[in-house]
Amino acid sequence: MTVYQATTSAPVNIACIKYWGKRDTKLILPTNSSLSVTLDQDHLRSTTTSRADPSFKKDRLWLNGEEEEIKEGGRLATCIKEMRGLRRQLEDQDASLPKISGYPVHISSRNNFPTAAGLASSASGFAALVASLAALYQLPTDASRLSLIARQGSGSACRSLFGGFVAWQMGEKADGSDSYAVQVAPREHWPDIHALICVVSDDKKGTSSTSGMQRTVETSTLLQHRIKHVVPERMQKISEAILARDFDTFARITMQDSNQFHAVALDTDPPIFYMNDVSRSIIALIVEYNRVAVANGGKLKAAYTYDAGPNAVIYAPKENIKEIVELIVKYFPQAEAFKDPFGLFGTQGVKGRVVEGFNEAVAKPFSVGAVKGLIHTRVGDGPRTLGAEEALLAEDGLPK
Ligand code: DP6
Repeated sequence: MTVYQATTSAPVNIACIKYWGKRDTKLILPTNSSLSVTLDQDHLRSTTTSRADPSFKKDRLWLNGEEEEIKEGGRLATCIKEMRGLRRQLEDQDASLPKISGYPVHISSRNNFPTAAGLASSASGFAALVASLAALYQLPTDASRLSLIARQGSGSACRSLFGGFVAWQMGEKADGSDSYAVQVAPREHWPDIHALICVVSDDKKGTSSTSGMQRTVETSTLLQHRIKHVVPERMQKISEAILARDFDTFARITMQDSNQFHAVALDTDPPIFYMNDVSRSIIALIVEYNRVAVANGGKLKAAYTYDAGPNAVIYAPKENIKEIVELIVKYFPQAEAFKDPFGLFGTQGVKGRVVEGFNEAVAKPFSVGAVKGLIHTRVGDGPRTLGAEEALLAEDGLPK
């Protein structure tokens, strides 16, 4: 008997121009366009296996081995329903196709990074879900078409259907049909863009993106200014900077936009704080590191950006990453040895150090654990279709 099953993986993306605000909460239509860098799945990814089988009783989904409820009308149900609808259209047009759209599905998904790291997994998770259903249903649709569906799972997920540098065009139609992701440039265009994720220790439960951004839409006047007068120009300028491989402009806009996103969070009533003292100290270090570079006649060498939590993501050309790791480690001593996937440090390991001319007084050193881990990665590719040996469902249709 034929087994109808597919396994795919999808990447994490971190925005340079932030999505923050919905004009339609059900369809997940944003109040502004956004732009992100897709990170390398060799280091961070969600993997999902989907299987359609007439013996299954109902649609079921497991996340990291735990079953999640598929709520009627909820985000998961919407994505599955939309994908099934596309399959049904194909079956209606071509009578020779097996009618698997009528079968219930079992879906098993895993992240290769700990949820405790506080890295948003909804983007890679929903992108992997949609990509695996597209493979299961053998849909000939392109990534932008699929991004329309992933968007309804989690807004930022639509950008994880492409590798490289990706824009989510907000669109203007009420039905959302023009609100999808497009690739600005593939990773091969600028493979030198690396990322250092500083996983910042955080014990308090933060405000979720979904509820936080809705409160911002309802109460922030600064958001209205951002939507109308700031983001459109930044989208244009940063896209040009990416095409020209102009890191200085890319970095300047990325940092400005992170700052403004956190400013609209602060402008929300009641205010939302996502960054903490550790986050702000990392900003001070990157600002000083860039100041020294410019004072020496150079250009910006690194850009920080923060999402809805205290973790820092530092984008930089590969050649600067060693200095940046040394800088971070000097102020944030690490309990564990730095994982060095690109072989920057040889066998000696990392030693904390600042570049010549650096004003060490811009931040105070923290104790071990303030930054509980560093992940070094780079710009990566889009979803990958994997072989049967990587499947996450066992023969009986339950998670392995
Ligand atoms: C700060 O995509 O998680 O990371 O659409 O409600 O699921 P929902 O929100 P989500 O928001 C991400 C917000 C952000 C900025 C960004 O990724 O652009």
